[in-house]
Amino acid sequence: MWCYSYSLLLVISKLLLVRALPVATFTIDNLTARSVELNPYPDKPRVVFGQDGTFKLTVFADIHYGENPWDWWGPEQDVNTSRLMRNMLAMERPDYVVINGDLITGENTFRENSTSLIDTIVQSLDEAKVPFSSTYGNHDNQINITHIEEIERETSITPFSYTRRSPPGVGGDGGPGNYWVPVYERETDTSPALVLWFFDSRGGVYTNGTSMPDWVDESVAAWIADETKAMNVAWGPPESRSALAFVHIPPHTIQAVQETLNSTVNPGLNADGLGQGSTQATTNPASAGNDSPFWDALNTHVKNLRAVVSGHDHGDEWCAREPTYDVIFCFSKHSGYGGYSEEGWGRGVRSFVFRSSLPSDGIDSYILLEDGTVRARVLLNREYR
Ligand SMILES: *[C@@H]1O[C@H](CO)[C@@H](O)[C@H](O)[C@H]1NC(C)=O
Ligand SMILES: *[C@@H]1O[C@H](CO)[C@@H](O)[C@H](O)[C@H]1NC(C)=O
Ligand SMILES: *[C@@H]1O[C@H](CO)[C@@H](O)[C@H](O)[C@H]1NC(C)=O
Ligand SMILES: *[C@@H]1O[C@H](CO)[C@@H](O)[C@H](O)[C@H]1NC(C)=O
Ligand SMILES: *[C@@H]1O[C@H](CO)[C@@H](O)[C@H](O)[C@H]1NC(C)=O
Ligand SMILES: *[C@@H]1O[C@H](CO)[C@@H](O)[C@H](O)[C@H]1NC(C)=O
Repeated sequence: MWCYSYSLLLVISKLLLVRALPVATFTIDNLTARSVELNPYPDKPRVVFGQDGTFKLTVFADIHYGENPWDWWGPEQDVNTSRLMRNMLAMERPDYVVINGDLITGENTFRENSTSLIDTIVQSLDEAKVPFSSTYGNHDNQINITHIEEIERETSITPFSYTRRSPPGVGGDGGPGNYWVPVYERETDTSPALVLWFFDSRGGVYTNGTSMPDWVDESVAAWIADETKAMNVAWGPPESRSALAFVHIPPHTIQAVQETLNSTVNPGLNADGLGQGSTQATTNPASAGNDSPFWDALNTHVKNLRAVVSGHDHGDEWCAREPTYDVIFCFSKHSGYGGYSEEGWGRGVRSFVFRSSLPSDGIDSYILLEDGTVRARVLLNREYR
C-alpha cells in the first residue's frame, strides 16, 4: 500500500515538474504567473513556419452551416461547403487555418443540437491534420447557440483546434473569444516570430433574444496592454516579431476606407457597400465609436501588425491601408454556400504567405476561388499603399 502511494506521489511530482519547466524558463520578477500563459498550449505541438522558411495561413469565413435543416437546400449547402473546404485545403496545403466567424447560422438551429454542426465543420481540418482556430460572429450568438458553447465544442472534439477563451472579465458578456496563438520559426526557438491575435466582436442576440453589442468589448483594451507587456518581458522587444489580427466584424474605421479604394492597389470584389451594421458599433447610432478602445489598444500596443482581417460583409474581398493607424486591413473571402450572396461573387478563401519570418519581408496575399481561379493578389509590406 505504502509503495503504491509512494509511486503515485512520484508520478504526480514528475508531472508537476514537467508542467513547471516552462515557468522556470521565463521567471522574471512578478511576471512569473503570467509566464505560464505565455506557453498557452503546453500539450500541443507548436505552430511553426514551413521547412522552406515560409508560412501559409488560409482563411475561411462566413461558412454559415445549419441553414434551414428542414428544407432540402440547407443540408445540401453544408455538404457543398464541406466539399469546398476539402478542395481548398488540398489546393493550398496551409500551415495554419483560420475560420473567421459565422460558422453557424444560429437562427435556424435547435437548442438541443446546435453545436453538433461544429463536428461536421472540423472534419476536413482533422483530415488535413492542420492546426486551426476560430473567431465567432454575430450569427454564432443566437437564442439557441452562443460563442462559448461553440468554443467548448470545438476545443473538446479536435486536438487541431488552438481556439481559446478569454480570461475571466475579458471580452464582455457573449464575447469570450479573445486569445492569441504563437507561431515559431523553428520548433526549438525560445520566442515566436509571429503572434496571431483573435478578437470577439460579438453581435447577434443573447439567448433571451435581446440584441448584443456588436463590437469588441472595451475590457479587451487593457488585456491587450497586459499581454503585450508580458510578451515583451518574456520574449524581448516586439520589433523582432510580426502580428496578424482576426476579428469577424470589421472595425468601424474601415467604412471610410471604402470611399478611397483604387482597383489597382486594392483589387478584389467590392460589391458590398458598408453601411449600418457592416462594421463594429454601427447597428445602433447610440453606440457609435464604441470599438475605439479596442482599436486604439490594438494599434498602440501590438507592433509590426501586418494586417487586420475581417469577414462579415460577403461581397467585399479587398485589402487597403487604414489611414488613422496606417495599418493594412483585408477582408476574408465568403467561403460558405450558406449566408447571403449574389450572382458572380463566388466562394473561396484568402491566403497569406509570409515570405520569411522577418517583419520587413513581404506577405503575398490573394483570393482563391473554388474553381481554382486566383485573383486580387497583393504584396503586403511596408511599401504597400
Ligand atoms: C512586485 O509586486 C509588488 C506588489 O505589487 C511590488 O511592490 C514590487 O515592487 C514588484 N516587484 C517588481 C520587481 O516589480
Ligand atoms: C451545391 O453545389 C452544386 C455544384 O456546384 C450546385 O449545383 C448546387 O446548386 C449547390 N447546392 C446548393 C444548395 O447550394
Ligand atoms: C430553439 O430550439 C428549440 C428547441 O429545439 C426550438 O423549439 C425553437 O424553435 C428554437 N428557436 C429558435 C429561435 O430557433
Ligand atoms: C437537430 O435536431 C433537429 C430536430 O430535432 C433536426 O431536424 C436537425 O437535423 C438536427 N440537426 C443536427 C445538426 O443534428
Ligand atoms: C438578456 O440577457 C442579457 C445578458 O444576460 C441581459 O443583460 C439582459 O438584461 C436580458 N434582457 C432581458 C429582457 O431579460
Ligand atoms: C491607382 O493607383 C495606381 C498605382 O499606384 C496609380 O497609378 C493610379 O493613378 C491610381 N488611380 C487613381 C484614380 O488614383
